[in-house]
Amino acid sequence: MKKRYKSNEPLSQNRNLLRWVEKMADLCQPARIHWVDGSQAEADQLYAEMVEKGTLVKLNEQLWPGCYYARSDASDVARVEDRTFICSQSKEAAGPNNNWENPFEMRRKLRGMFTGCMSGRTMYVLPFSMGPVGSPMAQLGVELTDSPYVVVNMRIMARIGLPVFAEIDRGQQRVVPCVHSVGAPLGKSKKDVPWPCNPEKYIVHFPESREIWSYGSGYGGNALLGKKCFALRIASNMARDDGWMAEHMLILGVEDPQGEKTYVAAAFPSACGKTNFAMLVPPPELAQQGWKVTTLGDDIAWIKPDADGRLHAINPEAGFFGVAPGTSAETNPNAMVSLSRNTIFTNVALTPEGGVWWEGMTKTPPPRLTDWQGNPWTPEIAQRTGAKAAHPNSRFTAPASQCPTIDADWEKPTGVPISAIVFGGRRAATIPLVYQAFNWSSGVYIGATMGSEMTAAAAGTVGKVRRDPMAMLPFCGYHMGDYFRHWISMQKKISETPRIFHVNWFRKDADGKFLWPGFGENMRVLKWIVQRARVRAQAKETPIGWMPRYEDIDWNGLDFSKERFEELQSFDRQAWRAEVMAHEELFLDLHDRLPKELIYERELLICRM
Ligand code: GTP
Ligand code: SPV
Ligand code: MN
Repeated sequence: MKKRYKSNEPLSQNRNLLRWVEKMADLCQPARIHWVDGSQAEADQLYAEMVEKGTLVKLNEQLWPGCYYARSDASDVARVEDRTFICSQSKEAAGPNNNWENPFEMRRKLRGMFTGCMSGRTMYVLPFSMGPVGSPMAQLGVELTDSPYVVVNMRIMARIGLPVFAEIDRGQQRVVPCVHSVGAPLGKSKKDVPWPCNPEKYIVHFPESREIWSYGSGYGGNALLGKKCFALRIASNMARDDGWMAEHMLILGVEDPQGEKTYVAAAFPSACGKTNFAMLVPPPELAQQGWKVTTLGDDIAWIKPDADGRLHAINPEAGFFGVAPGTSAETNPNAMVSLSRNTIFTNVALTPEGGVWWEGMTKTPPPRLTDWQGNPWTPEIAQRTGAKAAHPNSRFTAPASQCPTIDADWEKPTGVPISAIVFGGRRAATIPLVYQAFNWSSGVYIGATMGSEMTAAAAGTVGKVRRDPMAMLPFCGYHMGDYFRHWISMQKKISETPRIFHVNWFRKDADGKFLWPGFGENMRVLKWIVQRARVRAQAKETPIGWMPRYEDIDWNGLDFSKERFEELQSFDRQAWRAEVMAHEELFLDLHDRLPKELIYERELLICRM
């Protein structure tokens, strides 16, 4: 590379990469270039610089060793789905589930936006591997970013640095180019702010050329481009083309009292319980019987048939970007240990001792806090103004290796065999606690038509039920009808289909209270699921699928009446009429690409009802 930029020594010899970095530097005009080696020393340096600038607060080393705190701009707190684009050659290919713009038009816009966008800042050249470095299921990317916050977060969330440059230099694999800017160039006199961003945001994907461009946001899935942009939107395109699956799923292992291991993948929409389910702690009575749960991933699964045709999954990530509110020693002790050190907290509240707090962490809040917007916060103030101490989408970024229940095989290059797939949503009414699909195509129908109440994970109306097929509505990088077809067609590529289930931890009674205690108690449902997948548990047939009877669930240690269970599992014909009409609306939107199997499944469901 010509020495036109202030830069550390380039850490790659790959000519394409060197040329691209230079071209992007010419476009973005950063003050300097930094090739990221991924070392601890480098991270410490970045942390120190960000503390100095006010982007980060170093937490109390005694209480929170190695931890930092960031407060975002109040306008940059979640994924922006309406500013997310799939720019395929044809609009048809992107489907009604995506915002589409003509790729030529979009490239013109991006060129304008990115011209000089990094002025006064450092452009980091951040190589990352989604999946263990060198795994046959891993994919490589390089993110150019002007955000050091992104670099330190990506260092936790993905494998980055020298080993990845080495992999790129081996030249065996295509590399996905990702360009990210917070969109806040520093003019000569312009002072920086702790959380630079731009009111105008663009999260753009080019599925055919496998490129990602992100502008204007520094937050989560908008900016950590290995996550939703790559591992789901771009990877879903790769997966369709190459016969595998990129899914918004956690992966967990269940060990039974005989020591037999069963792996389960589960798709719940954003903020609907994946992290909690992945780290589930069985109730003591089931633990005593010998039931154990291990964690492999909490958000994304890449699933591929092995040589024998069994589906195997890896977690392409290396960390958890978890929802803070509601996380506590009671609800998720494994998450609490995972985030107890070397963690970055974003938009939670600060304690006077240099610690963090969020709603639900403890029953009574500490007496004095600084809220996520930097204002004084006390329970009295909260009562008066309704202000939350932590933003509802505040998050922790924690290394997966710190999870006490991390599975011994979580980095196995070829993944683990998946025996059951679970879909689930957040539904106050209609949807029972658990049922099992009759077969693969009815399972695909259940996943395709699942609905969920919207949460704070995305900008939008919280609480409204929307169809969120396979929890992939915001993440499927192509036409949803084609995606359903891909799911259906997977059956032909595999020798043994995983059993498919649907769960709803969030059904409420007439008083608006959750009918089901959830969290660790979900083990009772998981036990039934695993036993069903092994053909060792009973069930009864209903119009929507197989359901456990009261006596099919292990109630040891939980006082839960048969009446309450029947309420939780009840199938209400009237409510399901409305449900099926909502399925129809989704199908109308997708009709020109809907696989006929799903139309037949719908007919069968209506007949059974
Ligand atoms: P993303 O990271 O956005 O993909 O979210 P997620 O699916 O990992 O959700 P997470 O596990 O972080 O849970 C989100 C919220 O749901 C938290 O406030 C949890 O406390 C709550 N939650 C999780 N599991 C349960 C459950 O079994 N019952 C109830 N009532 N709430 C739950
Ligand atoms: C989600 O919204 O599903 C997340 C958080 O996991 S983010 O990385 O911001 O997409
Ligand atoms: Mn998620």
